[in-house]
Amino acid sequence: MAEEILAGKKIVLGVSGSIAAYKAAEIIRLCRKVGAEVKVVMTEGACEFITPLTLQTLSGSPVAIDLLDADEESAMGHIKLARWADWVLIAPASANTMARLVQGRTEDILSALCLATEAPIALAPAMNNKMWTHEATQQNLAVLIGRGNYILGPDSGDQACGEQGKGRLLEPEQIIALLSQLMVPKRLSGKRVVVTAGPTHEPIDPVRYIGNRSSGKMGFELASAAAEAGAEVILITGPVHLTTPSAVCRIDVETAEQMYDVVMDISDADIVIGCAAVADHRPAKYHKKKIKKSDSESSSLALIKNRDIITAVSLRKERPFVVGFAAETENMAEYAKGKMKAKNLDMVAANQVGKDLVFGADINALHVFWSEGDQTMATAFKSHLARELMTLIIERYDAKNSTKNS
Ligand code: CTP
Repeated sequence: MAEEILAGKKIVLGVSGSIAAYKAAEIIRLCRKVGAEVKVVMTEGACEFITPLTLQTLSGSPVAIDLLDADEESAMGHIKLARWADWVLIAPASANTMARLVQGRTEDILSALCLATEAPIALAPAMNNKMWTHEATQQNLAVLIGRGNYILGPDSGDQACGEQGKGRLLEPEQIIALLSQLMVPKRLSGKRVVVTAGPTHEPIDPVRYIGNRSSGKMGFELASAAAEAGAEVILITGPVHLTTPSAVCRIDVETAEQMYDVVMDISDADIVIGCAAVADHRPAKYHKKKIKKSDSESSSLALIKNRDIITAVSLRKERPFVVGFAAETENMAEYAKGKMKAKNLDMVAANQVGKDLVFGADINALHVFWSEGDQTMATAFKSHLARELMTLIIERYDAKNSTKNS
């Protein structure tokens, strides 16, 4: 994902005085690998930890250190850089650099360019844990957040000073991943997105249930993609072993009926994505005691139908944009389009389940249908596919709203 988002971006990397300054080299390498342009600005302190020549070689551009550089045309390097930047990333950001930004000081080129730029600024702090938790730093942090700066980390763990605690610079890969998330255009800002995910478990007795192989991965990735696009996301999931994506509100349920109730309680969603593999039926009777094996060679279990969640959502008076999924072993397009019609959906994402395409795997391929068109999405990791699908959902959602309003 970072590849697509960071490609072509102009990043000013501010490096300040911290033992973690050596990690700036890897940050530059990762940025350039995915096609971003990097220009480095160093504080005097940073130059004590890593040489400008190293960062110049890796970034392929001269490193700016002096505020008043006689070699720079009109000695206004900080203004040029401030205008050039799409983003300013300060990594590592020392306690001193944070304090200087709060005060709006201009005696070094990094602080001066941060005052002059209109580009968003992200800071990845790195310092001793006592310095990090000190009231002065915490107050500075609150001011920086209040002014709209983004804070990446810090991490906890062993510190270079021999102490343990919060204050370690995040790993370069984590910094790049978080930065690219911040760069995603917030096209769903102010919108509420509901995603159902995972399987449902329909209890038979205290030890048995009817379930399916859904892992919940695609739903979780979709929730994450919607949050990245700026939406308020409610993820309603059946039993899964997955970590909640950041900035997502998660509600755990077990059965289809519980999922139905939670979804129907949310009346003001803008988009509802039914990614859960909801059990079509549940046992007609729940046995409070474990069912014992009988002597008979066959036995049967009476089932009753569960209510269809996305159909109920699509029948609401104030109807959100509704997206369904269809996992099929045969006649994929025909069945998927049939479900779109029968369930009154705006869009259906179909995937083939078969001998090489395992339900619950990390990869998938999709064929997405809507009333006026369709789009195939080639086999890819679900994280990638979810972002591709979310982009299409936003496009169709916007198109539908613009026709409604015209
Ligand atoms: N779905 C739902 N509530 C149900 C059953 C399904 O919201 N009780 C949603 C799923 O989340 C998915 C879509 O409907 O988005 C299609 O689910 P699927 O199980 O493929 O469809 P069914 O209608 O159950 O058809 P079948 O099992 O016969 O293929």
